[in-house]
Amino acid sequence: MPSADEIRDVQRATWAGLSAGWEKWDSVIMEQLGPVGAAIIERLDIAEDHQHLDIAAGTGEPGLSIARLSPKGRVVLTDLVAEMLDVAARRARAQGVANVETKVCSADDLPFNDGTFDSVSVRFGYMFFPDMAKATAEFARVLKPGGRLCSSVWIKPEENPWTTIAMQAIATEAVVAPPDRDGPNMFRCAAPGYVSALYEGAGLHDVAEWDVDVELVTRSPAQYWEMISEHVSLAVAALQQVDDPTRERIRANAIAKVSAFEKDGKVRVPGVARCIVGTKQDASGTRPRDGALSSNAG
Ligand SMILES: C[S@@+](CC[C@H](N)C(=O)[O-])C[C@H]1O[C@@H](n2cnc3c(N)ncnc32)[C@H](O)[C@@H]1O
Repeated sequence: MPSADEIRDVQRATWAGLSAGWEKWDSVIMEQLGPVGAAIIERLDIAEDHQHLDIAAGTGEPGLSIARLSPKGRVVLTDLVAEMLDVAARRARAQGVANVETKVCSADDLPFNDGTFDSVSVRFGYMFFPDMAKATAEFARVLKPGGRLCSSVWIKPEENPWTTIAMQAIATEAVVAPPDRDGPNMFRCAAPGYVSALYEGAGLHDVAEWDVDVELVTRSPAQYWEMISEHVSLAVAALQQVDDPTRERIRANAIAKVSAFEKDGKVRVPGVARCIVGTKQDASGTRPRDGALSSNAG
């Protein structure tokens, strides 16, 4: 079992290497993940003077969208990897979003005082943390009483053909080591209730989870493959280990399979994420906003 430091080192190297792919495919990735960002934002009750912390913010979402909704507020985008936050800073400048700052740090060791933020978001970050319980305790610590945490993770591979098509094509030609059950991997938090239990372990209340559909839309099967092979961590790592003819066979296989998803001149491959929300108890010990979640909790 690798140590927390070893896990962070691997994640740092992996995501530094992926940052160029995330910047290149920004518009396609943001369109695919947009519904999840919107679902997270909907549960955070963003006020115009909100203090928000985005964990594992990568290239900046959902933090940048939250900053736009909170013109008198402040959003801190944090990530383990400076190269990802550099992309976020460039995107913020390009979008004219000024009320954001970036901070390189690990989710399980936050450089912020207790009770600093009105809300915390973690879009597709949980599965990469060395110690998810410790990270959740940190999120609860830096939340103000009554503040909310909302995150998202991927549900099981069978519901996410947008990535499994590519991984199956790779597996026909290359030995893909099964992911360490307890180590970072895309589907580590897929089991229903997995993240909710972490929230409850950190003392959060009114915990609810619900699924959100996504769709990866590309212009062609070839563009699908180009995009996946340049920004999905498992695919990039596996492809580095094979020679050019093998890579070409994998590409042809993936393109043939994804062609089944061609519709109206585009390739539309579905997926499903899970969002999880929870609230920090307020100072009086009552549960703030009781009942506010019940209508939407799935
Ligand atoms: C899939 S990306 C998500 C980026 C962004 N939130 C989004 O949804 O577009 C995962 C991010 O987790 C970050 N990460 C990995 N380990 C981390 C850790 N221990 N602490 C904070 N961030 C971490 C990576 O650097 C990467 O930017």
